[in-house]
Amino acid sequence: MQENPSNSRWDGLLIDCHLATMNETGTPFGAIRNAALGWKDGRIVFAGAMSALPGKPGALSAHVQSAAGACITPGLVDCHTHLVFGGNRADEFDQRLNGASYQDIARAGGGIVSTLKATRELDEAALLAESLPRARALLADGVTTIEIKSGYGLDLPSEMKMLRVARTLGSTLGIGVRTTFLGAHALPPEFAGRQDEYVAHICDVLLPEVARSGLADAVDAFCETIAFTPAQTRQVFRQARALGLPVKLHADQLSDLGGAALSAEFGGLSADHIEHTSAAGVRAMAKAGTVAVLLPGAYYALRDTTLPPIAALREHGVAMAVATDLNPGTSPLLSLRLAMNMACTLFRLTPEEALRGTTVNAARALGINDRGRLACGMRADFTIWDAAAPADLCYWIGGTLARSVISAGVIVAGQAFEQ
Ligand code: NIG
Ligand code: FE
Repeated sequence: MQENPSNSRWDGLLIDCHLATMNETGTPFGAIRNAALGWKDGRIVFAGAMSALPGKPGALSAHVQSAAGACITPGLVDCHTHLVFGGNRADEFDQRLNGASYQDIARAGGGIVSTLKATRELDEAALLAESLPRARALLADGVTTIEIKSGYGLDLPSEMKMLRVARTLGSTLGIGVRTTFLGAHALPPEFAGRQDEYVAHICDVLLPEVARSGLADAVDAFCETIAFTPAQTRQVFRQARALGLPVKLHADQLSDLGGAALSAEFGGLSADHIEHTSAAGVRAMAKAGTVAVLLPGAYYALRDTTLPPIAALREHGVAMAVATDLNPGTSPLLSLRLAMNMACTLFRLTPEEALRGTTVNAARALGINDRGRLACGMRADFTIWDAAAPADLCYWIGGTLARSVISAGVIVAGQAFEQ
């Protein structure tokens, strides 16, 4: 966990901290007390005990800062969001409180399609302006990497617009953004009554163009009775894989259509939601190494009562991630830490499982392994918390705990410290 200082000194060194490294060290959270964290050129060069520092702090870096006993975790990774969209759906919140179900609203032409209309209407600059505060809210709560899906455009120009806005959010805020093409999210109105034709359009037109543009890192679909069938999802996934893009799936959220196993069948990075996934689905995920992305915000907002199969996921060693699912319909949730709290309270995850779910396992759900842990060579993405222990992040409901949020060695939110 250490590296000798090279010829030049480190860009920064934090001392007197409590690291939750999330490395498999056999201690909860991979914790190291009385620790130090050093970085250079956007990468971690030291994450270990103060006593293991390869020299006097001042000799290692010109920028040494005491964290005064604060807890430091890897920068959080929100591995499932739909945060680029126009308008909002507070009216549907009201309808649901008055007895309408999410499915009723979707069938009546509301839901995703109403956000589609609002998103298509905005030009790129306006869509960016509407989305920026949502991304900033996640950052302020300790997030340094966000996955962002398209899926509210559902025609080529609007989907590309969403993906470009997502990428621009990353460069504007100086954080990591991974984009996912979600063309199979809902049926756009111009294809009403022609669902198979829309699926063919996704495969023949949208996917090849999106792949060519390089604007998407993965492909997702909504496999559900109110969305796309398993057969249609398979068609989309076959084409995605043929174009070299990895897949993930909104699976078994409202009913068990075998979605988790379907994602696994295509070597899926993740199966997300999975409230209704069967034991066979869990076994398929375990075999394929598909991550279970738990989305307690949607479970909470839809007042769901069917819990994801947590015990079976644990039993079969399926990696669990936790994300906000930030979207205007089922999860207007602007805090990943609150999603962690919900994962503990509603799904009975332990705080350590919840933090693994927003760090190392979340990175895995995105197919990336250069972040999510504090170790030499990893991106210098970390959050300094006004908390003494990592479990505090799951315990507090709301509030401001992130003191400084650092992405690739640069402060992107919270207090500056001497550098
Ligand atoms: O993850 N389930 C499908 N997609 C989103 C909801 C999108 C919406 O309602 O706008 C979800 O819950
Ligand atoms: Fe979602």
